[in-house]
Amino acid sequence: MMTSSESSSPLSYSPTPSPELIKINSTHKSYHIEVGLAILFLCLTIPSLLFLTLIYHRETTSISSTSTKTTTTDSSFLKSSFQKNFYRKSLLNYSHARCMDDSIASYYIRLANNNNNSYWLIYFDGGWFCYSKESCNLRRLYSPNLMTSNNLNEKKSFIGIFSSLKQYNIIYVPYCSSDLWSGSSNKTHSHGSDIFHAIFDDLKIDKNFQKAKQIIFTGFSAGGLGLLLNLPNLLQQFPTHIDLRVIIDSGWFIDYPGSINGISKINEAMVYWNTQIPSSCQLKPQYKCFLGSEAIRLFPSRVSILVIQSLFDQTQLHLDKLNPHSNDFSLKLIENLRQSSNRISIFAPACSIHGFLFRSLWPQFDIEQRTLASVLNVWLKRKKRTHVQLIDHHFDSSFCPQRDDDEI
Ligand SMILES: *[C@@H]1O[C@H](CO)[C@@H](O)[C@H](O)[C@H]1NC(C)=O
Ligand SMILES: *[C@@H]1O[C@H](CO)[C@@H](O)[C@H](O)[C@H]1NC(C)=O
Ligand SMILES: *[C@@H]1O[C@H](CO)[C@@H](O)[C@H](O)[C@H]1NC(C)=O
Repeated sequence: MMTSSESSSPLSYSPTPSPELIKINSTHKSYHIEVGLAILFLCLTIPSLLFLTLIYHRETTSISSTSTKTTTTDSSFLKSSFQKNFYRKSLLNYSHARCMDDSIASYYIRLANNNNNSYWLIYFDGGWFCYSKESCNLRRLYSPNLMTSNNLNEKKSFIGIFSSLKQYNIIYVPYCSSDLWSGSSNKTHSHGSDIFHAIFDDLKIDKNFQKAKQIIFTGFSAGGLGLLLNLPNLLQQFPTHIDLRVIIDSGWFIDYPGSINGISKINEAMVYWNTQIPSSCQLKPQYKCFLGSEAIRLFPSRVSILVIQSLFDQTQLHLDKLNPHSNDFSLKLIENLRQSSNRISIFAPACSIHGFLFRSLWPQFDIEQRTLASVLNVWLKRKKRTHVQLIDHHFDSSFCPQRDDDEI
């Protein structure tokens, strides 16, 4: 648990002398009953794949370069509105970095507002997956934008944490491979692993990135799973003077006992994707390389890890076909997080939601009055071996802050 004295630990690598990243207006919090949504959600009878690709991919962006972008300017909890655009860069020079429709994968970059190259955040997006000709055809039909880079604007602005961290240089990587960032197959057009590595090959030759002093690798959902798989090997390549940090946002899955559908099924999908298992992961069966509790043991010990995970995560409940009213899953998840508690920082609210940081209200999620923004501030200032751990035990009285423009 955190104590208030911890919020003042001054560390040399903290972004600013007074690194309060976000100012929060806590007077108005509108809550919706997420649990109700989750029930509705589980009662729907649409084939689960279509459903999931539609539900779990949300627009994080307020589209287009011409938009006047009122969505972030009315957020009273941001210190000031920060309008700087992200610019798209194509991975032209990397022949394997292709989306499922063979378009060239790309990423977005926005440099820090003070032109300081020290602080970087690299975000890998999520959006479920597909694992067979049939499921990928359905995905093409219902979520075409998850398979191509063709419809991406050259300039974009992003809400959520992307508009909060002004002093950070931010890389935002859209997800167009449908393979948990793991595949390398010309046959099935799964190139997540190729795209992932092309990003870092491209950054390595970027003069600004070469000056990085702190890098926060962040992944949402499928993006978080991609980090768990790919980072242990990759991080070994970074010089030791760089402060390396990892945030897994809603990508901490557990092997729920008795689940017919759960994450272990990904083992079969991995054949379709031709998943590239890094040499650092020798776990068998291989899907375990995606399991948080297993993967974090492979991370270099100097790397700090923050896990942000709802105890009633909508995606995992759906994947395992679990009753959202049963607490059993959540208790198992808590047990699983606790087993890793010597290694990770934890923010695990009980309100049912999937994904935090991309939402405009991300700073307001709280556990016992400690907000996610304050936890992130503390975590960023922390020494590497001390952890911030907050787990919500109020299962019945926990609500997520919500605003319509955060949802699909
Ligand atoms: C970038 O910011 C850090 C911390 O605020 C500071 O120590 C460093 O000198 C800055 N670098 C440049 C090039 O301004
Ligand atoms: C591709 O590589 C060439 C030669 O190194 C370089 O000049 C060019 O800027 C690169 N293009 C992109 C989009 O990175
Ligand atoms: C996949 O396609 C790329 C680009 O066309 C090519 O360089 C590579 O050799 C192919 N790989 C296989 C295994 O066929």
